[in-house]
Amino acid sequence: MNAIMMIGREPLTLLFTLGAMFWISWKLTIFVLIFLPVSGFLISRLGKTIKNISGDIFALEGNLLSRIEETLGGIKIIKNFTAEVFFKSKFKEQSEEINYKNNVIGARMAMAGPLSEFLGVFTISILFVYGGTLVLLEETLTGGAFITYMGLAYQILTPAKAMAKASHAIQGGNAASERVRFILDAPNPLIDAEGAKVITGFEREIKFNNVSFKYENEYVLKDFSLTVPKGKTVALVGESGSGKSTLANLITRFYDVNEGSITFDGLDIRNVTTKSLRSQMGIVAQDSILFNDTIANNISLGVDNASEKDIIHAAKISNAHNFISEFDKGYQSNVGDGGSSLSGGQRQRVAIARAVLKNPPIMILDEATSALDTESEKVVQDALENMMANKTSIVIAHRLSTVKNADLIVVMKKGSIVEKGTHQELIAKGGMYTKLVSLQSLDILN
Ligand SMILES: Nc1ncnc2c1ncn2[C@@H]1O[C@H](COP(=O)(O)OP(=O)(O)O)[C@@H](O)[C@H]1O
Ligand SMILES: [Mg+2]
Repeated sequence: MNAIMMIGREPLTLLFTLGAMFWISWKLTIFVLIFLPVSGFLISRLGKTIKNISGDIFALEGNLLSRIEETLGGIKIIKNFTAEVFFKSKFKEQSEEINYKNNVIGARMAMAGPLSEFLGVFTISILFVYGGTLVLLEETLTGGAFITYMGLAYQILTPAKAMAKASHAIQGGNAASERVRFILDAPNPLIDAEGAKVITGFEREIKFNNVSFKYENEYVLKDFSLTVPKGKTVALVGESGSGKSTLANLITRFYDVNEGSITFDGLDIRNVTTKSLRSQMGIVAQDSILFNDTIANNISLGVDNASEKDIIHAAKISNAHNFISEFDKGYQSNVGDGGSSLSGGQRQRVAIARAVLKNPPIMILDEATSALDTESEKVVQDALENMMANKTSIVIAHRLSTVKNADLIVVMKKGSIVEKGTHQELIAKGGMYTKLVSLQSLDILN
């Protein structure tokens, strides 16, 4: 505001004073006008560096904040791997750079004052010499007019200096606003198409039609086609990195396909609203994300005014009710940061209860049991089977024991389907699936 007020007021003063000066002696004023751009150039160069460095500082501060967050979040791992020194020195390095740049800006700002002061005095002294010759030698200017002229020249120095200062303040603010705009104006490539339809229910099938997809340069999925009919369980298995989770990302439209299409009851998912698409699906992933809140609130995430009865019902289906009831505060117990006060199996069952409560027609399970020990895997597996009953599900699993009963098992390798069929069919075929099964059975023997 200060800067804006100055910018509004000072130019007028400057304009009128310059007008008066022209009227008294145009020769002298032309002289002044030669100096003004030179000073203006020097001062604006200073302003540019201030802007660039301010921008750097905002970026560095952003990095520092995310590093602090990451470090505090991973403090256990850092201590376990005794990497404190490394993180400390990283922190020190970054904060020192910020400190250094702040000092540079401080120095530039401090220099701006003396610089414009110097330029002002310099202009005035030249005026005295040249004006003196006009009065005394050429006698084209009277002494009185010259004194008035000099008074006016002093007058314009103050607003000129104030404007230089204001422009520096604005440069700093500009750098800040550029950074904010960078985030606010970031284009969203996944924005709903115009006239996008709203899905109200799931009737027939989800289809991948010759889908190819890449995150960066390499295709992660190549010419992938698959149909997931309503009410069936389709399992995706295959080595890690073969593109299974990517398929889950694509159905829920966190990315768009590069080639081909995905259709939901025959509608291209790019032509439906993302919100209505996602409301048809529930996801349970390997890392169950809980929030620092009560168990009840974690279960009812995204469901407005869920009743206590519904929450308990969901927890029962997910085999979570028993352990929750054993807590002193039951469903009102806090789960800690990221659910840290629960065990892995408990966290996973709360995450399943969340999906059960949402009760979408389609369930996507991405390695929902692979982070668990055999004991809790059994309980969670039961919970999942309760949940999947009468639902359409896509089950991504590393452990084949969990997909044996699927209606269709799809074996993937490097983004393509190697074979598909039921458990029996694939075993009879003796291909890649059989090999994976025998490898995992060996695991058990060892
Ligand atoms: N966000 C991402 N950005 C770039 N590459 C990714 C990203 N997510 C996964 N990938 C790459 O895509 C490939 C398939 O990953 P993914 O679908 O997660 O495999 P998985 O079958 O183990 O679930 C991997 O090579 C992985 O490196
Ligand atoms: Mg995966």
